[in-house]
Amino acid sequence: MERNEFLKMLGTASLMACAGCALESCSSSDPTVPAPPTGVDFTIDLTSSANTALTADGGSIYKNGLVIVRISDTSYIALSQACTHQGTTVAFQPSAGNFLCSNHGSRFSTTGSVINGPAASSLKRYNTELTGTDLRVFS
Ligand code: FES
Repeated sequence: MERNEFLKMLGTASLMACAGCALESCSSSDPTVPAPPTGVDFTIDLTSSANTALTADGGSIYKNGLVIVRISDTSYIALSQACTHQGTTVAFQPSAGNFLCSNHGSRFSTTGSVINGPAASSLKRYNTELTGTDLRVFS
């Protein structure tokens, strides 16, 4: 192999290795994280034993890819449950009033916005509407 050919091959190999490193470091989110549910429209019966957690402030349940939380007897919130970093299910922390992903420590506000990373994008927020003891959750 000639010296010029060797240097050319070495340069190409180095460039490819650097490109690989750059791509790896730029990927802050796992492409396998499930997309937030779309077309959401379901109703939760608050008198059902399956939904007992929603009878106390700070209580939460998981349903159809969402986490639903009771803030007060007239206020509920619903967010996509998959952390936007790598998809771990987030949990509401009543004492802190926000959502924690236990995998790497991301926190999200009750609107779904990122309080601290490594997650870089918000959880999706859904509408809620309380009618009597029926809680409708919808996009
Ligand atoms: S999966 Fe990494 S912070 Fe949630």
